[in-house]
Amino acid sequence: MKLNITTAETTKASENKAYALFFVKESVQFSKILSAKGESQVETVLKGMKDGPFEDLEFLEIDGCNTLFVDAAKERGISALDHLRMAAYRLAKRAIKKQIACVSLFLADAADEQFKAIVHGLYYAGYKFDAYKSKQKKNFEVTYEIVAGSRTAAFKKIAEEVAVEQKAVTLAKNLINTCAADLYPAEFVENAKTIAKYTPGLSIKVRNMKQLEKEGFMGHVTVGKGSSHEPYMITLSYDGTKSAAGKKTTSRTSRDHLVIVGKGLTFDTGGLCLKPPKSMPEMISDMSGAATALAAIQAIATLKLPIKASAVCCLAENAIGNKSVLPGDIFTAKNGKTVMVDNTDAEGRLVLSDGLAEAGHVGATHIVDLATLTGAMVRALGYAVTGFFSNDDDLGLKIINCGEACCEKFWSMPLEEEYADALKDKFADLKNTGSDAGAISAALFLQEFVPENTAWAHLDIAGTAFVSKSWKYTEYGATGFGVQTLIELAREMANET
Ligand code: BES
Ligand code: ZN
Ligand code: ZN
Repeated sequence: MKLNITTAETTKASENKAYALFFVKESVQFSKILSAKGESQVETVLKGMKDGPFEDLEFLEIDGCNTLFVDAAKERGISALDHLRMAAYRLAKRAIKKQIACVSLFLADAADEQFKAIVHGLYYAGYKFDAYKSKQKKNFEVTYEIVAGSRTAAFKKIAEEVAVEQKAVTLAKNLINTCAADLYPAEFVENAKTIAKYTPGLSIKVRNMKQLEKEGFMGHVTVGKGSSHEPYMITLSYDGTKSAAGKKTTSRTSRDHLVIVGKGLTFDTGGLCLKPPKSMPEMISDMSGAATALAAIQAIATLKLPIKASAVCCLAENAIGNKSVLPGDIFTAKNGKTVMVDNTDAEGRLVLSDGLAEAGHVGATHIVDLATLTGAMVRALGYAVTGFFSNDDDLGLKIINCGEACCEKFWSMPLEEEYADALKDKFADLKNTGSDAGAISAALFLQEFVPENTAWAHLDIAGTAFVSKSWKYTEYGATGFGVQTLIELAREMANET
């Protein structure tokens, strides 16, 4: 797609162009916008929309009577901003399908966040994953002419940011949708190396199986040793607190270091505690946390956000082999605690114990881990809401608010101490299964590995990372959930005074 942001309205109602989305504060201004062409043309344009390529779009008003746009089918639980995204998405889908070369959007009166939502929606419409189809078809390229009036300069800047964010979302989605035969830990590492190479300011450290074992990151070794694909841990680092001149900034928050830790099971068979076949193919998405972490750090560095941030990707394949971990096996985690592997399918928390330790080593003040961790979370909150656990109310609130700003929903879950005893093992310090409250037990297990005095939040994205039927602006497959919230969180932390 092409975005053309202009001050003046240059589009003509005729030609091969379509007027599509109007966004005006007052209905009077609607006619004003088109006054250059004469009052009568307003009707022509509207009629053109009704009879032309957008004839099946609805004309609706939302948010009282000051917002007019097309195809704003109200859906329960969807915020006004998300309605805008969805409207833009549907509009763009139709424009692509009907091969409309140019669509004009009148957005001079849109607020910044509304404009941002619309541009995100347009980008979502352009995503498709057909790498595995025998014939690939390129999307028809639509030019969106944005009439922005006095907001032109501001909107251009926002559009640049959205482009970076959407590039990251697309990266995460592509990695998640790629099947495990093509995306195993070493291949994920290659992707991360390429990203580090082409993202100024981003450095990368890679540990292979031998190095992980030598340094005592035994969660990775325990989970990954049954596979012919060896496990890896990647640490990507970025420091945006250095000014262009290379000096450190002196703001109070320059001490903050956000570390994003991602579960990166390139495939999860369940191990010897094998999963049933029905739910297995979706386990290509069990590396969503790592993909999201990688995508977010890429965007944070590209946007040059003034914050120190890192990403730790915990990569392994949970497979069956003659070296697979056996139920009942006990290993010593990086922080010295011993863990009995009660269920080989509860593998995510084992690799994450290493990721949390690594976050501590690199000096995290704030850790956010993302993991497709439990089926229990899918049953609790479904595909629309991510449940999170945090030991820090301020961080938790930030996640909710940042999520809201980019149309990603979060719900705070309890780190219920009453269930902590269920994680105790008879022989080892801990076991990797706990109470019937599966998502809470997993979070309590992770908490055992959070470095001291560190704000931490665990985002269980098992339900939200991958959808089996189309939802909002995502078709079957990866949603890219979390990428934008993380970028927003980094922005928020960087802006704090
Ligand atoms: N990767 C799964 C969780 C999952 C389930 C993600 C469905 C996405 C969709 C995880 O490794 C797992 O298998 N968890 C087990 C833990 C249990 C054995 C304690 C689960 O939730 O059943
Ligand atoms: Zn599992
Ligand atoms: Zn898993």
